[in-house]
Amino acid sequence: HTPWPGLIEAYRDRLAIGPDWEPVTLREGGTPLLPAAHLSEITGCDVHLKVEGLNPTGSFKDRGMTMAITDAKARGQRAVLCASTGNTSASAAAYAAKAKMTCAVLIPQGKIAMGKLAQAVMHGARIIQVEGNFDDCLELARKTTAEYPQIGLVNSVNPARIEGQKTAAFEICDALGKAPDVHALPVGNAGNITAYWRGYSEYFADGITSVRPRMLGVQAAGAAPLVHGAPVKNPETIATAIRIGSPASWHGAMAAKDESGGAFRAATDEELLEAYRLIAATEGVFVEPASAASVAGLLAARKEGWLDAGLTVVCTVTGNGLKDPDTALLGMPAVQPIPVDPAAVASALELD
Ligand code: F0G
Repeated sequence: HTPWPGLIEAYRDRLAIGPDWEPVTLREGGTPLLPAAHLSEITGCDVHLKVEGLNPTGSFKDRGMTMAITDAKARGQRAVLCASTGNTSASAAAYAAKAKMTCAVLIPQGKIAMGKLAQAVMHGARIIQVEGNFDDCLELARKTTAEYPQIGLVNSVNPARIEGQKTAAFEICDALGKAPDVHALPVGNAGNITAYWRGYSEYFADGITSVRPRMLGVQAAGAAPLVHGAPVKNPETIATAIRIGSPASWHGAMAAKDESGGAFRAATDEELLEAYRLIAATEGVFVEPASAASVAGLLAARKEGWLDAGLTVVCTVTGNGLKDPDTALLGMPAVQPIPVDPAAVASALELD
């Protein structure tokens, strides 16, 4: 077995990249496509989880970031900037560190999970809190990089990001030996659904696959502009990663839905948390709350008959649960310590 080289080397001939560009890589991609036995049983479908939390910084953002930082380096840029609900900033910080570049991140005040902030701190990013939400941060990042073009913008409005992220669709088709019938994923700024659709469409155009999946984009109910067909001014959800009211890749997301015969749907915070706990408790996969949107959407869509039993379904779970321990421990009762004594363990377990 040769080791996985990272997605740029693995899919170089399918990526918009110069022949002499030297990849900045942490060997991202190559993530497991995990058969989900419990989800398959309760839906009657053949359900798989694309476990993107196993990327180097714990989210799918690394696929886009290896491309964006490689591109920025090839252009001679020394500094990059992004707006982020947390994962993009963690990823940008890590890849910038690897490339010996300066990284600055704009984050919405008080609304990012602790693990993500810890990552940006450890990788040496300059962290700038903004009095506003993600949409405000992105607008500020766009204006700043337009005025200071020596700083590279590494949000998914950067085309290199979408290029890198499309490789997840390639990996899924390579693993299944076909395209799935339905692909469900969480949608925030809508870069990822745009990227998946591009990946599926490229394999289809080249005859590697014979169908393209129906795309099911799932948003949090309090931040569901694509479901409502209009931007949301004050997005609110426990899934801070997708707390976004005005997705930058609106058109890409619409095209993915329309061309695939797909759908957008909203999941309430309760549905998100229920799916979040279900995946952890039954599949052994700990994801962050936003990531569970794909599964919450699948379960609701199946119940409503939007998809039939027997279909092959892939749910992308976008980020690692360890990023947000606060939500995992929400409502957990205080645990009383016990004496160092087997009888005390037995009594705590209510054995007798
Ligand atoms: N899931 C997670 C865990 C995310 O962090 C994001 C986006 C999404 C899903 C949605 O992906 O934006 O391409 O539709 N996080 C961005 C960030 C906004 O700043 O980390 P999308």
